[in-house]
Amino acid sequence: TKKINPIPIALYGGRNAVTMLPGGGIGPELMGYVREVFKYSGAPVDFELIDIDPKGDDNTDLDYAIMSIKRNGVAIKGNIETKSESAGVISRNVAIRNELDLYTKDIDIVIIRQNTEGEYAMLEHESVDGVVESMKVVTESNSDRVGKVRIRVCEKNWQKEDYYHSQSKYYLSDGLFLDTSKKIAKEYPEIQHNDMIIDNCCMQLVSNPHQFDVMIMTNLYGSIVSNVVCGLIGGAGLLSGKNYGDHYAVFEPGTRNTGTAIAGKNVANPIAMLSASVDMLEHLGHAQHANLIKRAIVKKPYLGGTAKSTDVVQRIIDHILQADIRP
Ligand code: NAI
Repeated sequence: TKKINPIPIALYGGRNAVTMLPGGGIGPELMGYVREVFKYSGAPVDFELIDIDPKGDDNTDLDYAIMSIKRNGVAIKGNIETKSESAGVISRNVAIRNELDLYTKDIDIVIIRQNTEGEYAMLEHESVDGVVESMKVVTESNSDRVGKVRIRVCEKNWQKEDYYHSQSKYYLSDGLFLDTSKKIAKEYPEIQHNDMIIDNCCMQLVSNPHQFDVMIMTNLYGSIVSNVVCGLIGGAGLLSGKNYGDHYAVFEPGTRNTGTAIAGKNVANPIAMLSASVDMLEHLGHAQHANLIKRAIVKKPYLGGTAKSTDVVQRIIDHILQADIRP
């Protein structure tokens, strides 16, 4: 468990400052849509825009971004690429999560993903030529706090709960995660608890997804399963994801990819990033603005068709401007 000493969060006359990290690929254009929609909805948010150079040879940009998120408490981000070949330059996405101790991530179904350790502990080395070892780290303290987050989610939204693991392969690490989950489950008999190996879980997600409500899992399983769920529902452009720690929150699309191949073509679906911005407004307590944008987004399904990204954004802005109740 990481020790964090939070600094006071800036709040200027009811407005929130939020760190915006567009990242690579379609990130910058999606952030442009968020700013456009916020402008028309009057959302009281000032963005502090920070670009992180993917080829940077040191961590200066990254450190600045992390300090900005600490100051603001909240960030919205695209996928930040790491293309430097210098030793010591680490994945920016993983570093942000770890530095801010954002230990859970969820998307709808709800998937609660341990977000800071497991296979993403970044402990890899070549022990002898041609042999690479990679360490998976599971701690009781992180399993425990993620386990408690799932109870809060269940109590707030759902009756049923499921958790998943693959104890048949990683006896000790997944075993610790599962045992900790079960220990917490005993204290909440009103919630139904299940467990399933991750392999079977992926198969059942595709064949019978409706059985799942709340799912909790370690980091890499969470990454894979959240991509499966996004794919089931309509692909990378639809669902948002939330990263939470005790002090900070970072909002982003549910799959964390860059969409480089479609960058600049005006075809990226803006809904995942706009939904992330709605999550962010809800988190900041701006419920009216969040609802205004959310209602405008759900007016129409945004799959298939020939509309350009900017057509979709314009349609959303039109709905906002026509809404009966503006905050
Ligand atoms: P990608 O960026 O190539 O996207 C996968 C597919 O989804 C592509 O066909 C893309 O065109 C489409 N897509 C993505 N966003 C879209 C949108 N808003 N609207 C419509 N279509 C959209 O995905 P890939 O290969 O997974 O990732 C690229 C980079 O992102 C890699 O460097 C990878 O390491 C990184 N990354 C991906 C994660 C993931 O969850 N997929 C997680 C962390 C990093």
